[in-house]
Amino acid sequence: MKVVVCANYDEVSVKAAQLVEAQILGNDHSVLGLATGSTPLGLYERLVEGVKLRGISYKNVCTINLDEYLGLDKGHPESYRTFMTENLFDKIDIVIGNTYIPDGTSDSAEECLRYEQVIDSVGPIDLQVLGIGRNGHIGFNEPGTDSNSLTHVVELVASTRESNARFFTSIDEVPTHAITTGIKSILKSKEIILLASGKDKAEAVRTLLNKDVTESFPASILWNHDNVTLIVDRDAYELV
Ligand code: GLP
Repeated sequence: MKVVVCANYDEVSVKAAQLVEAQILGNDHSVLGLATGSTPLGLYERLVEGVKLRGISYKNVCTINLDEYLGLDKGHPESYRTFMTENLFDKIDIVIGNTYIPDGTSDSAEECLRYEQVIDSVGPIDLQVLGIGRNGHIGFNEPGTDSNSLTHVVELVASTRESNARFFTSIDEVPTHAITTGIKSILKSKEIILLASGKDKAEAVRTLLNKDVTESFPASILWNHDNVTLIVDRDAYELV
């Protein structure tokens, strides 16, 4: 794992955007793996800027998102489809049919199988963007997830629902379950960038950099992949 320590969140976003844009410019048909959460918002702003200022085009790009809440309609304000539409897809020239996010409203067992097939047939993902949960989750792969897991349904742990409650009017509205690509699905990506910013993530970054590979801290499984870059700001790196 390569570690890039940046001065602040903005630098993390710029560095990540440079890697994403280099990927797009270097390939006729890139497949990007995308994440939600607060962390990649700065990256998405930079990518939008790249369309306007650097002439980057997404016409031939496909995207595959990590996860989606179970039970929220696509149009729900807090669905990850809405998040991606508002923060990225509506602002770049991507073909919406080339953007893949699990459908949280269809039969979930069938949807998991279908989505893993998307990862294999549209993919492999050239560059996967990841954030990290405070408990080390990646996607919605909570501690204890099998490192051989493919796309599956998860019950969200209380701490994840609590930290995501800030986007909903109350914690009761945060879905209890989600569909997430598995750890093995994520590891199929050719290259992975893991972004972490803020003191809130310092403990998780320290645990990750202990290099103790364990299913009880899902992000640590990334040590088994040979092309991962952790892009972190000083606040998130302060306990290392
Ligand atoms: C969420 C998402 C993850 C994300 C993580 C951290 O629950 N499912 O993909 O990386 O939690 O979110 P944030 O970037 O807001 O801290």
